[in-house]
Amino acid sequence: MCGIVGYIGSKKAVPVLINGLHCLEYRGYDSAGIAVLENKNIVVMKDKGRVANLDNISGINDLSSSIGIAHTRWATHGKPSQENSHPHMDNSNQFAIVHNGIIENYNELREFLSNNGYHFLSQTDTEVIPNLIHYHYTKGVSGKDTFLAAVKAAVDDLKGSYAIEVISNLFPDRVIVVRKDSPLVLGKGKEENYIASDIPAILSYTKDFYLLDDNEYAIISKDHIQFFDSNLVEHSKEVTTIEWDATAAEKNGYEHFMLKEIHEQPNAIRETINNRLQLGEKCTFEGLTITKEYLQSLNKICIVACGTAMHAGLVAKNIIEKLCRIPVEVDIASEFRYRDPIIDEKTLCIYISQSGETADTLAALKLSKSKGCKTLAISNVIGSSITREADFTVYTYAGPEIAVASTKAYTAQVSLLAVLAIHFAEILGSYAQDKLEELKADISRLPTKLETVLGLEKSIAEIAQKIYTEHDMYFLGRGTDYYVAMEGSLKVKELSYIHSEAYASGELKHGTIALIENGITVIGILTNPDLAPKSISNIQEVVSRGAKTFVVTNQELTNVSFDFVIRIPETNSLISPILSVVPFQLLAYYISTAKGLDVDKPRNLAKSVTVE
Ligand code: M6R
Repeated sequence: MCGIVGYIGSKKAVPVLINGLHCLEYRGYDSAGIAVLENKNIVVMKDKGRVANLDNISGINDLSSSIGIAHTRWATHGKPSQENSHPHMDNSNQFAIVHNGIIENYNELREFLSNNGYHFLSQTDTEVIPNLIHYHYTKGVSGKDTFLAAVKAAVDDLKGSYAIEVISNLFPDRVIVVRKDSPLVLGKGKEENYIASDIPAILSYTKDFYLLDDNEYAIISKDHIQFFDSNLVEHSKEVTTIEWDATAAEKNGYEHFMLKEIHEQPNAIRETINNRLQLGEKCTFEGLTITKEYLQSLNKICIVACGTAMHAGLVAKNIIEKLCRIPVEVDIASEFRYRDPIIDEKTLCIYISQSGETADTLAALKLSKSKGCKTLAISNVIGSSITREADFTVYTYAGPEIAVASTKAYTAQVSLLAVLAIHFAEILGSYAQDKLEELKADISRLPTKLETVLGLEKSIAEIAQKIYTEHDMYFLGRGTDYYVAMEGSLKVKELSYIHSEAYASGELKHGTIALIENGITVIGILTNPDLAPKSISNIQEVVSRGAKTFVVTNQELTNVSFDFVIRIPETNSLISPILSVVPFQLLAYYISTAKGLDVDKPRNLAKSVTVE
């Protein structure tokens, strides 16, 4: 979704801004723009389309300013167009802003401003903001810093979510920022400072970040940054040092981020489970203080997330229920928040989000806190919004995930949740310790087994070549394999634009089998020895109706014949998704490349879904 970059220092701002926008391209966007202060005027250059188009705007590379703001827009209000692109200025051209989020009361603010003589050049909700700042500034605001006071007065009028950057030619030595329900980080440099909606945008310049809180303002100048609360009372703030290597956000010789991230999975899992799981010792999670009494008091655990993260939650449900005997419900965050869930202090709510910024997941977390539940966040991004809202956070250490399609975050989430389930079981004493030790040993062998699965890449690419022209695919699985079917189907949909659905194998004949006809592709997952014979029967049913079949299994298949079979290493079926999902990540990747699609940025999708 929309991305923000900002710079103030002594370098030329434009290259920093454009480089930052390039780093944010993975979030998904349809237009881009910058605003800089040049010879006491604000110069705005923007257009629909790619960030690369900005380089073609006449004069952009001659701008020598060392203060500027920049934006990639993912259209919500008004189609992608030059006039709807950010930055937006007020009618007097004294204030320029970029904005992420949605202003819910923009119609009424537009009317108010129109009645006060303002006019609008775009259809965006954002354009009310610079005009409101101008309105309050000219009406007169009090305070030590009238620029900041005018921004605050405007922000007080807004309903909705926002991360906002403002510059003004009246105050050429500073950028003002504020956020609510939309991320914003400030990067600390030497005689220069940076602003971004996402750490990778400025990671090549600094590793020292301030993570702005909701309703917090900052004045950023070349030499220092001042922080203010919602009443403009100044306070100090701690720097957070991010350990990510800047090259982690680069392709490192791979053609696409997605392929690189698929190959990073063994390491992502090692990093995530290291220090938490040691054979022969109890699992530990730093900072997670959960007692036996608390776990015994729970009547259920709710796992809430969206998309791939929700699929990781489904796998975790089976593991937690098996090891801890606590009932687990898994919800889609956008449904959970509106279904009046029955939750209270006896419910532990676990929120899974790679980005930690997904709007529905964040809103659901706030809801469960208001109902008295303890909340545990699982995220890949240090200091992200859900981690700051939750009572506890445990991080996956998968490194930055840039491709829109989630891969290494998923396998890292499932690995972490498996170790967490063992941790809970050890606290509760709910499962035989020798069996837990066996499971720990299986988890610790996963990275090596994953390397074996990655070794099957060429065979999977060949299968992709044979099926990439299909229009429909059906994924089948039982038990945990069904959850992998859901994730495999999502990967195929989002990357290859092929219609695909996942079914619990036993459910097919209750309706969907009517769609099976000659040549249709059916994909089966068979990793549980107890359930495989039943699933094989279900796949035979589609074979006899002419389906083309592709099976991923860790079982010896005798007396059955499928069109394509990929054999993966065996492991405990509770954690088999960490291995069985990988062929589908690769399949979706190779179908997408065979079709010549934009693998890392599939159409209409965004990496962080920061609006409802
Ligand atoms: O950042 P999050 O984990 O909260 O994101 C949730 C979903 O938007 C995300 O998993 C999405 O489904 C991916 N595109 C799937 O590949």
